[in-house]
Amino acid sequence: MQLSSRVLSIQPSATLALNAKADALRAQGLDIVNFAAGQPDFNTPRHICEAAIKAINDGFTRYTPVPGIPELRQAVVDKLKRDNGLDYTLDQVMINVGGKHSSYLIMQALLNEGDEVIVPAPFWVSYPPMVILAGGVPVIVPTQLENGFKLKLADVQAAVTARTRAIFLNSPCNPTGAVYSREGLKPIAEFCAAKGILMISDEMYEPILFDGRRFFSTASLGPAVYEHTATLNGVSKAYAMTGWRIGYMAGPLELIKACSKIQGQSTSNPTSIAQKAAEAALNGDQGVVAEMNQSFQRRRNLIMDLMAELPEVTCFRPEGSFYAFPRFAAYYGRKAGGKEIDGSQTLADYLLEEARVAAVPGVAFGDDACIRFSFAIGDASIEKGMAATKRALAKLG
Ligand SMILES: Cc1ncc(COP(=O)(O)O)c(C=O)c1O
Repeated sequence: MQLSSRVLSIQPSATLALNAKADALRAQGLDIVNFAAGQPDFNTPRHICEAAIKAINDGFTRYTPVPGIPELRQAVVDKLKRDNGLDYTLDQVMINVGGKHSSYLIMQALLNEGDEVIVPAPFWVSYPPMVILAGGVPVIVPTQLENGFKLKLADVQAAVTARTRAIFLNSPCNPTGAVYSREGLKPIAEFCAAKGILMISDEMYEPILFDGRRFFSTASLGPAVYEHTATLNGVSKAYAMTGWRIGYMAGPLELIKACSKIQGQSTSNPTSIAQKAAEAALNGDQGVVAEMNQSFQRRRNLIMDLMAELPEVTCFRPEGSFYAFPRFAAYYGRKAGGKEIDGSQTLADYLLEEARVAAVPGVAFGDDACIRFSFAIGDASIEKGMAATKRALAKLG
């Protein structure tokens, strides 16, 4: 079959592929510690599930308005005001089929062939393929572990051309755990606003913040920045609802209307029942979110203590999200049973085979020196997996 050059030019999601591999090995009876998971290990809180069950029992099972049910959009408007100090009207808000679909829709709505989108690296695996699928060109701008994986204004200035349409900003960041400070992001945001570049502020990990940090939304950095920002968020990570597939976004009316038009011709609407569950999540008791965050912080501390015992491994201390992104480049060039470890992919393969540890090679995130370890797994698994990693690394000659 002749497939489109668009689809042939992208790779499958590395994180989903690795999870599938870990699951297949488990199904064969192997005991795998899965650091590859991009989701909380907690169950969706009970009151949220009850709202979905009620929706089914009430027969709330039909198509909904394309941009989402007004009750949920209102819950988003209220949330953005309450937590982020942002003013959006109901029609500036749209509910999507998972947070992933929000970025996808924006790319489709915004880009013409050859338009450029700045993607700071390390990046979430899906940003570059989404740009490419819309005919755009991802312009990768590297950040360094030594600078806390933060963009500098000069990096952005150097990457902007006449074709730059948007920039992805993801704080707290998947995969690095980096969190921007207000002062750090402001000059970049003001520069982008002045250039008319849309900031796609992916705030999916908003509540997962450590050491007393306080979250701020990019759009709160001033009126000009607000005008040029799409605020993306969702319930997947905050409320342990990854399988429900509900994300949301708020932004300039013209953009939301355009995205809604595409949704109307593609998915029609997110699942009616899941929208009711998301409404209960946003309007309900937020104590569950704080409780999960406490667990993530404890696990962050644990994995960092164990990581410090790995010789020649450096790791940025995650400030938020539930990922650590240690640098293993010192091991490249060494051999495992005659085979050379030549980058993050071969090292991740070796760890899976030798240590029965699944973690995602950094090359998928645009940084081959590192490997991503999710610590959204139990304490005992973290201990077991890091001990096995240490033993496997010691065997490399
Ligand atoms: C940075 C980032 N944005 C968005 C998403 C998408 O989340 P969802 O599962 O709601 O599509 C993810 C999921 O891994 C993510 O890491």
